[in-house]
Amino acid sequence: MRASMGKLLAVATALGAVLIMSAGAYANVEATCMAATPKDTLFNYSFCVKALSAVAHTGDGARELAKAAASIGGKLAAATEAKARAWLEDPRTERRACDPFQQCYYIYQRASNLFSSAEYLIDQRAYADAKSRARDVRSAVRDCNRFFNEAGLGAPFLEQSAKCEQLGIICAAITELL
Ligand SMILES: *[C@@H]1O[C@H](CO)[C@@H](O)[C@H](O)[C@H]1NC(C)=O
Repeated sequence: MRASMGKLLAVATALGAVLIMSAGAYANVEATCMAATPKDTLFNYSFCVKALSAVAHTGDGARELAKAAASIGGKLAAATEAKARAWLEDPRTERRACDPFQQCYYIYQRASNLFSSAEYLIDQRAYADAKSRARDVRSAVRDCNRFFNEAGLGAPFLEQSAKCEQLGIICAAITELL
């Protein structure tokens, strides 16, 4: 009886510590996303909290969170670049889709570079340059969808472009707090 009570207490204590730790990371993310919201009219607060909570560590400040947004965006852009390349190399891809896929390949390569330089520049405390790189992601990824529409095709990377745009906006807005 005594032993199981002790065990229960230990489990409860461990659970409490985990809850406090995750609440700590979450509180930082919420406060940072909230503070960055007025920096851009297109800023999506709930997307910010969702995306950054998934990677944030306890005690992360705005600087770490801005870098995290750039890092998530960079990974997504690189994955989309690889997808565009795979479609391009697939013989089953429609001919009229080849040029748009080629353009999108370059566009996501550029977006991936913009995100990695933003991350690097934040690390170097070159905040104004980092912000402008992150801001440029929005117009870059938009063109990819346009190329497909102009070829009379549905855009295949709508979700990726919306997320990359938002991560660029979030990275720039949080960088502006630094
Ligand atoms: C904001 O992000 C949430 C969560 O990812 C999403 O469900 C919602 O559609 C987004 N809102 C806008 C206006 O994009």
